[in-house]
Amino acid sequence: MAVDVLLGLQWGDEGKGKVVDIFTQNYSIVARFQGGPNAGHTLEFDGNKYVLHTIPSGIFHKGTVNIIGNGVVIDPVTFRDEISKITSRQQGVIDQLFISRKAHLILPTHRLLDKSSEISKGKSKIGSTLKGIGPAYMDKTGRNGLRVGDLESKSWRDKYRSLVKKHEALIGFNTALDYDLEALERDFFESLKFIKSFTFIDSESYLHRAIRDSKNILAEGAQGTLLDVDFGTYPYVTSSNTTVAGACIGLGVPPSAIVQVFGIFKAYTTRVGSGPFPTELFDKSGETLCKVGCEFGATTGRKRRCGWLDLVALKYACEVNGVTQLIMTKGDVLSGFETIKVCKSYKIKDKTYDDFPYKINETDIEPVYQDFKGWEADISKLRDYGDLPIEMKKYIAFLEEKLGLPIKIISVGPDRSEIILR
Ligand code: GTP
Repeated sequence: MAVDVLLGLQWGDEGKGKVVDIFTQNYSIVARFQGGPNAGHTLEFDGNKYVLHTIPSGIFHKGTVNIIGNGVVIDPVTFRDEISKITSRQQGVIDQLFISRKAHLILPTHRLLDKSSEISKGKSKIGSTLKGIGPAYMDKTGRNGLRVGDLESKSWRDKYRSLVKKHEALIGFNTALDYDLEALERDFFESLKFIKSFTFIDSESYLHRAIRDSKNILAEGAQGTLLDVDFGTYPYVTSSNTTVAGACIGLGVPPSAIVQVFGIFKAYTTRVGSGPFPTELFDKSGETLCKVGCEFGATTGRKRRCGWLDLVALKYACEVNGVTQLIMTKGDVLSGFETIKVCKSYKIKDKTYDDFPYKINETDIEPVYQDFKGWEADISKLRDYGDLPIEMKKYIAFLEEKLGLPIKIISVGPDRSEIILR
């Protein structure tokens, strides 16, 4: 019938994996539209925890088709490892996993280029996950990339070799890099054999047919709006369009097919790696958010920077994406705070900004906060909105009013069952 899009509104790690997993029962198809193995979608159910990097989060629902779209960059080595981790615990779940022929491959030399680029930047490094994602997207836009569909033709090795030659010439400039390409390639070629055992499809045609056949499709985003290469806190961003338009580009579906845009945000803010973060906390409250919220990267294990909710950034994210419904996660982490703060506007050199400013990278942004009384109760066992503490309801009502959108779902814990629907 339609395409709905689910995406993050902050700097990623909003809990998209859990929500997609819950939503999947309403969709015939779940499709990832951008990003690479830097995504770490965490799903918890039946006492098990799974972290997905490239595979869509609808994978655990039998009968649902899962598609890795053309906008995704795939590292065959990570993909193979990810599949084997899942199938060792859940049989048969990958039977309905299809890969777009137009998705690009991450080569071992892309990883090396990533490392080389970060080393050369020194202190001003952008905080890359060093997974080769940026260089793979650069080869895509530079029209040099190797695509999944190339593996179906005999000439793929020639393409591969000429690309590696280019990469080696670039890497050669960086004498600080030590590597064994032969060993990396052995693993890479092995994993290519594995990926070739999957069905490659023209995913845009597949999805067009599904739309014509009145099937429901969920487009799953990775990372978050503030990491979008165009609209995020550039240059501290990811290499793809994480916003709603990225779903059209990364799947080949027309904007007119999109109905709902589900925007997910945490009840506070986190960010991994370098880059501006106006509401970042360097005090005990920040430490508590990190500890109680288990704010460590699912993929990298890196400690996430934590701070209060930033409504300037969140409103901007809602507008860029045309969000129709909001989903708030990790409200449970705020339990126990005496006071909770929300940033309403920014002050930069005595000027107040309500709109997300171009000058976001300046260090002297002063958040203007509104204080809220906190609540003590453990809300993780609650399933009815009416049972939430009055203080939390006031917090939610304030956000809805400022953002002009309903918060339809409130996640109160990591498990599939820990959710309040309104
Ligand atoms: P990226 O695409 O990498 O940005 O990931 P993501 O948006 O899927 O988020 P990720 O799974 O990395 O991080 C969310 C973490 O919070 C996971 O460990 C989830 O299990 C957990 N989580 C999700 N919702 C809630 C919630 O409501 N409360 C708590 N306490 N944890 C949650």
